[in-house]
Amino acid sequence: MAVVRVLVTGGAGFIGANFVHQTVADRPDVHVVVLDALTYAGNRASLAPIADRVEFVQGDIADQELVDRLVGGVDAVVHFAAESHNDNSLSQPWPFVQTNIVGTYALLQAVRRHEVRYHHISTDEVYGDLSADEPAFDESTPYNPSSPYSASKAASDLLVRSWVRSFGVRATISNCSNNYGPYQHVEKFIPRQITNLIDGVRPRLYGAGHQIRDWIHVDDHNRAVWEILEHGRIGQTYLIGANNESDNKTVVQLLLAEFGRAADDFDHVTDRPGHDQRYAIDATLLRTELGWAPKYSDFKAGLAATVAWYREHEDWWRPQKAATERAYAAAGERVL
Ligand code: NAD
Ligand code: TYD
Repeated sequence: MAVVRVLVTGGAGFIGANFVHQTVADRPDVHVVVLDALTYAGNRASLAPIADRVEFVQGDIADQELVDRLVGGVDAVVHFAAESHNDNSLSQPWPFVQTNIVGTYALLQAVRRHEVRYHHISTDEVYGDLSADEPAFDESTPYNPSSPYSASKAASDLLVRSWVRSFGVRATISNCSNNYGPYQHVEKFIPRQITNLIDGVRPRLYGAGHQIRDWIHVDDHNRAVWEILEHGRIGQTYLIGANNESDNKTVVQLLLAEFGRAADDFDHVTDRPGHDQRYAIDATLLRTELGWAPKYSDFKAGLAATVAWYREHEDWWRPQKAATERAYAAAGERVL
């Protein structure tokens, strides 16, 4: 479908802001409305370079009246807004239930009422985790979430599926692997280590660091979202991943090398309770049906570009850094 006006929820967060930047650059005729509550994870500064090209509304996705009004004025919704950090979901699960489940419900009711196309952004974490030798997740893998975060995302995905089946809502879902790139909050793994290294502090690896994630550059994720929005089959789930599995220790060592530091110059810290061992994506459906392929095929180069971005945008991340580290310490993180 041709999208003329799009509502982007969570457009001041990491992936949503990158989606808005990409949309403004690649599709200048599309009118973008951002709805974002500006929680600790949202940052208006992420949209500052394109502020005059975007309509920004501060508000909660669970505010049914507001959401109804905004959805009534667009022809598509791309729903990124969420509580997104596993560690926070372990210390304070309620906002995850409220935003990820109740918030998605409010959006679904609005797109149903206004018959608006809806794309739901989700995560591979809904599938639980894999051992080293199990095949990667695909669209038929049963849901088996481990944490309050992944359980709340799984619940929201199931609401979407039922709104398609029961009410004929024109929705698609994508479940993507771990993203990296500009504008990611310093609480997350890669920006936390990059900003530690900029500050001359040792990176912090949970436990032994053998857990595996399937890293994808945020721009590749967002190009896939546009493909699905324009050409995806209604009711279909698409997995998004770039065939780039790496264990956490290897990621830290790539970053250490980028800073010219020794390969063992990091700390092992307290592990995350219930820590998922491995995520991996089989994106065959997306590649064959929609012809998508990642542009960032060299992880080392993608990381180097991300390091350069954080070096050049200290004004963007510095205000959050000290409070984020204090929160990790207060949650009991200690060097092993
Ligand atoms: P983020 O935490 O960086 O951003 C979330 C944004 O949502 C913030 O701007 C925040 O202010 C906003 N928000 C939170 N609660 C809100 C509410 N009630 N109403 C309106 N806005 C609200 O998250 P992210 O990493 O950009 O993730 C975006 C989406 O992508 C999430 O749905 C997440 O589950 C999914 N996802 C993330 C990854 C990843 O690696 N980061 C991977 C796969 C899927
Ligand atoms: P994270 O960015 O929180 O994403 P997710 O939990 O959604 O995968 O963490 C990525 C991996 O890095 C995960 O295995 C936990 C680990 N990790 C560390 O080793 N050190 C850290 O400081 C953080 C924040 C995460």
